[in-house]
Amino acid sequence: MNPVMEAILTRRSIRSFTGEKITRDSLEMLVEAARYAPSGMNKQLWKFTVVQEPALLQKLAAVIAQELGRDQGYNFYGANVLILASNERDNPYGVEDCACALENIFLAAHSLGIGSVWINQLKGICDVPAVRQVLRQLRLPENHVVLGAAALGYPSGPAPKAVKRPHVAEWFLEKE
Ligand SMILES: Cc1cc2nc3c(=O)[nH]c(=O)nc-3n(C[C@H](O)[C@H](O)[C@H](O)COP(=O)(O)O)c2cc1C
Repeated sequence: MNPVMEAILTRRSIRSFTGEKITRDSLEMLVEAARYAPSGMNKQLWKFTVVQEPALLQKLAAVIAQELGRDQGYNFYGANVLILASNERDNPYGVEDCACALENIFLAAHSLGIGSVWINQLKGICDVPAVRQVLRQLRLPENHVVLGAAALGYPSGPAPKAVKRPHVAEWFLEKE
């Protein structure tokens, strides 16, 4: 099968990870994949914040748990890297741009044997002062909001089965 199609069809959200470290080279490749995503009017106003440092990951998880009332074990499924996708608050294409970039990250990660899952929790709370304080430590610009994140790590088991995909297309093809 065409390798791009194969990656699209076999990628699954992974929620259980080994402790194996992702190399800097692999992380660079994921950021490169993100940077080459399409963006509305080619604005490229996004920023990708790669967090591997355990103390910072823990700090981020703790403040999310606190704000959302999650238990203190909340840890992004034990992923050892989080890539935040942020964009300028006023960019009308910010959500779409970051979604394209995150999907590129997921597919590129999958092609490297790295598992991933979208982490949505920061989106609604990134302006809460306690959360913003941690984001400031990660040098997130004040005019940026976090629109999504990729949790990444090596999968600790086989990929889950694909969830059912209903047929949702209508076809109006040219007659042969
Ligand atoms: C916008 C968006 C937000 C998501 N947020 C989360 C999340 O916070 N936590 C999580 O475990 N999965 C999250 N997911 C992953 C979905 O649950 C997952 O993609 C879906 O169940 C289909 O499974 P698959 O990715 O294995 O095909 C999110 C996906 C999207 C597109």
